[in-house]
Amino acid sequence: MSLDRELLALAETTVREAGAVVAAGRSRAIEVTDTKTSPTDIVTEVDLASERLIRERILDARPSDGFVGEEGADVAGSSDVVWVADPIDGTVNFLYGIPQFAVSLAARVGGVVVAGVVHNPISGETFTAVRGEGARLGDRAVAVSGCTDVAAALIGTGYAYRADVRRHQAVEMARLLPRVRDVRRLGSAALDLCFVASGRLDGYVERGLQPWDLAAGGLIASEAGARVAGLGGAAASETLVVAAPEALFDRLHDLLVETGFGDWPLEDRHPADGPVAAVSGQRPDEP
Ligand code: IPD
Ligand code: CA
Ligand code: CA
Repeated sequence: MSLDRELLALAETTVREAGAVVAAGRSRAIEVTDTKTSPTDIVTEVDLASERLIRERILDARPSDGFVGEEGADVAGSSDVVWVADPIDGTVNFLYGIPQFAVSLAARVGGVVVAGVVHNPISGETFTAVRGEGARLGDRAVAVSGCTDVAAALIGTGYAYRADVRRHQAVEMARLLPRVRDVRRLGSAALDLCFVASGRLDGYVERGLQPWDLAAGGLIASEAGARVAGLGGAAASETLVVAAPEALFDRLHDLLVETGFGDWPLEDRHPADGPVAAVSGQRPDEP
């Protein structure tokens, strides 16, 4: 078996086990343990338990690998492999009992994402991809929608937890909304990207994504036939992630430019957040 497939197999078993922890956590009273970028950017005990399990399973199986998780201390490895985990993507949905959240895990080799899994433990759906081998939902290959008309496109998006950023996002969205079929804010970036991969959304646009939001879902979307990038040839980054079928991407891109998505780089709005990291690359401080 190739290394990439081996990594996928380990990711898949691990994410299913973590998903069971998350699903079981949903049936108990959920307490908010901490907040991050704003009082509504929450962490629960279940986020922490899921990440602990993922880190333990991965590092037990592959002790030389590095690990980056949303909720924990990063582990610097000595191999070329770094794992990127979001223990619950869609924590606010999780808290409210909206069944749109997922465990997301990706493996990068030499800085390139080669395997990714996004698993919704409530629906039981598991999206997977290995670089160069296409994307799957369960055992079925998936592909992006055939939409080529941006005015007919159903676009997924999300908003930052910070009020000052949202104020600006609302203005951008007010310009975009009348120009597309409709916009969905489903609450899990990883699943949004998988929905682009499987044609449930025609496209996706969001600012402020972190590596763990994008790593697995971004690979799954691109393996299903999407282009995942920023504006003007930039890589997908914290500034902006756009995902759309190859045949729709340029039209969506031009509409985003026309409606002002290129006008205010994230650096200007997030002076406290430090440098912008290319999503497929590393955070400045990670192993
Ligand atoms: C969030 C979700 C949401 C997106 C936010 C993410 P979290 O992740 O993916 O859809 O809009 O940007 O931070 O906090 O639930 O892991
Ligand atoms: Ca997330
Ligand atoms: Ca999370």
